[in-house]
Amino acid sequence: MRKKLLTTVLSALCTITAWAQTDSLQRIFVYSPGETRGLHIAIQENDAWREAGQLCSSDYGTWGAEKKMYHPSVCRASDGTWRLVFQVNDRAPLFAAAYSRDLVNWRPQDYPIMSTTKCLEPVVFSNPDGTFDIYYKSPQGKRWTSATPNFRDFTPDRASEISDDAWIRDTATVGGKLYEGNSFEISQKDWAAIEQHFRQQAADGRLSAERMHDDAKNPTLPTSPIKVTLTIDPSRQKPISPNLIGIFFEDISYAADGGLYAELVQNRDFEYSSKDRREWNATTAWHSTRPIEIATENPLSKNNPHYALLWPKDTLWNEGWDGIAVEKGKKYDFSMYVLGGGQKQDFMILLVDEDGTVLAKSKLKTAASAWTQYATVLTAKGSNAKARLAIVPLKAAHVGVDMISLFPQETFMNRKNGLRRDLAQVIADLKPKFVRFPGGCMTHGQGLENIYHWNETVGPLQDRKPDFNIWGYHQTRGLGFYEYFQFCEDIGAEPLPVLAAGVPCQNSAANAKGIGGQQGGIPMDQMPAYIQELLDLIDWANGDPATSKWAKMRADAGHPAPFNLKYIGIGNEDIIGTVFEERYTMIARAIRAKYPDIKICGTVGPFHTPSADYQEGWDFTRRNPDLQYMVDEHYYESTGWFMHHRDYYDKYSREAPSGAVGGATKVYLGEWAASTNVKRPNVETALAEALYLTDIERNGDVVEMTSYAPMLCKDGHSNWNPDMIYFSNTEVRPTPAYHVQRLFSVYGGDTYVNSRLTIDNSKFAHRLGASVVRNSKTGKTYVKLVNALPCELQLTVNGLDIPATARTEGFEGKPEDRRLDIKTGEAGTAIVLPPYSFRAIEL
Ligand code: AHR
Repeated sequence: MRKKLLTTVLSALCTITAWAQTDSLQRIFVYSPGETRGLHIAIQENDAWREAGQLCSSDYGTWGAEKKMYHPSVCRASDGTWRLVFQVNDRAPLFAAAYSRDLVNWRPQDYPIMSTTKCLEPVVFSNPDGTFDIYYKSPQGKRWTSATPNFRDFTPDRASEISDDAWIRDTATVGGKLYEGNSFEISQKDWAAIEQHFRQQAADGRLSAERMHDDAKNPTLPTSPIKVTLTIDPSRQKPISPNLIGIFFEDISYAADGGLYAELVQNRDFEYSSKDRREWNATTAWHSTRPIEIATENPLSKNNPHYALLWPKDTLWNEGWDGIAVEKGKKYDFSMYVLGGGQKQDFMILLVDEDGTVLAKSKLKTAASAWTQYATVLTAKGSNAKARLAIVPLKAAHVGVDMISLFPQETFMNRKNGLRRDLAQVIADLKPKFVRFPGGCMTHGQGLENIYHWNETVGPLQDRKPDFNIWGYHQTRGLGFYEYFQFCEDIGAEPLPVLAAGVPCQNSAANAKGIGGQQGGIPMDQMPAYIQELLDLIDWANGDPATSKWAKMRADAGHPAPFNLKYIGIGNEDIIGTVFEERYTMIARAIRAKYPDIKICGTVGPFHTPSADYQEGWDFTRRNPDLQYMVDEHYYESTGWFMHHRDYYDKYSREAPSGAVGGATKVYLGEWAASTNVKRPNVETALAEALYLTDIERNGDVVEMTSYAPMLCKDGHSNWNPDMIYFSNTEVRPTPAYHVQRLFSVYGGDTYVNSRLTIDNSKFAHRLGASVVRNSKTGKTYVKLVNALPCELQLTVNGLDIPATARTEGFEGKPEDRRLDIKTGEAGTAIVLPPYSFRAIEL
């Protein structure tokens, strides 16, 4: 210990002397002020250290419980680039490793897996040949591994005799506290760039905090009418994507099971378990006069091992999803599988309200020796929002029952195993051009075992493989890939399946080996099978039933014609680390080779620029232009952020990098939403989104698709806010966000007509939006106008004749209003936009 202290003091003295002699250099100190606070930088000023800001933070493991950085060690390579390693916890057989050119932009972290149980206090040193030595401590003693110059490949670890001096670090007192870390000298130019980064971050934070809700407190904003000119130049037009507005569908907040999927029985297959939710088991949502007996011998399907054994007089009740909404006069299809062992059993099937009044009943006679499905129809004689289903055995037989199901006959398009009509209709009214499915985080799952496998969601319902839902409940997979593709066809939308890139969600908890996050990805020896699974999806969707077993499965399910799949998404906002890039490359190459016409969508992580994943994602895309037609961007931001980043896509390159398959890589803004501290869509968030969508239309040559996320949220089961549509068993409540999406979809086009809004005071320009598009299918021109100011706008339009009788649709309100009245009308002789309003004009 004494030796370590002495060395530290000496090293500090030497470096201070060196700095004094070279005043063009700036001394910096990188350290962590606490395990949840990431890596910070301090600078030396007048012999004291001043904290300058955070450089990066841990991205390892689950949110909340993990994401910790212990003992960061930083070194600088001879080419001036930087390497960071740190310990992630005291259990995992890995450490974190990251690379940076400038200390502020870090490549997404890699977590190389070592042979020891723990990797404690890793330290990194650069070698003259460009490689790096990393030492760490473990229960097996000191260990060593070496990394390649790009810091992506690490040799297998081995025992090391290195002296303890390797762990001696610099010290500095920052904000009155003594920290260990690494001290370096950097040029004033490099320091200026770091300072500029922090200044930019702070300025961005101030702009992002702007809220319409606070406008009354802002005396600089106009309150009396202002004049605005919209100059349209029909001679300057460009083609834009006709598919700009689509939907993101994920089973989050009970969006599918208990939501859009019209099944009214909860836990119909007795497959709930504590994996779904700690307190759940096979009998959850079921009730009986005696404890329910669950059996697993001779199951209906190997993927569906649990069923209930019913004794005479054992009435079995299902509570539904927060009750079963029953409507007088409507018909309900009841079905169940029975294992009778040769015994006959008659059942009375009932729908009963909260007071015990029978709303519907029907007798079901069964006499099965093997599992057999029986069905009957219940006709409701009364209505109740919280009814229950009862199954009453009438004879003295002891039988097994499974897959107990109740569907309203009136599903969307009357499909069997279909979707809730009211909810699906609201979605269809949005006229989405595509549907993304199944997520979101559902796609890549909570750990390797929970990755979504599309092929486990097709075929007979009892053979589909249920699984836990990353959002804390259960996936029946009743709304699987077949139902998804059918829905797309029914509403005229392109399917955009998004499947895992061979890695689970980076926020996954640790597996049995203590490996969290991406868990090292699907092991390489299993990747060929996984890649085949993705190829099979394309075959299933588009293949010929006469020659393909997958296409035959589609035909057997009722759809002999191909679904004409055009897009496939690989990866969902993953960490764009080495584990991801290796697997993505393998998958994308295989798809390109077998299905060159399929448009592949990659991912650039969970956040916009300048996040690490975004930057590396786009770098990867530029390095591999043939591996993706477009990339999926995600960002949930404040209304202020959207209002102040109106030129986000104006800056995107339109040039195709060499090796590109087509033109420049397109953007799919796959998850986005504006929010305020209220966390619910309101007029403020809707207007911020509308402003941004006018910018997206202007950039519709580079942005191919967008989808607001999440789409659905069931009352009482929210995993996320804001959402586009809230619903209960009996109600569907589209939000202002929904209306904006619908208006941009219905009044969308395929040609952008150049236009410019001018106002006297350009300080308010970020609060105004206009976009003019032509639609070759409808033959119409649509003008969309957004006023996010607290004053009326009086608009003069040049370059396009807007007749007074032109049809308009739009809304206005107060920023905090959560409900909108959509109004239709006529443009009038003078176009006036009330405060906080939106108008679409049809010409
Ligand atoms: O949209 C909700 C979630 O947000 C998605 O599942 C995930 O991709 C993102 O983080």
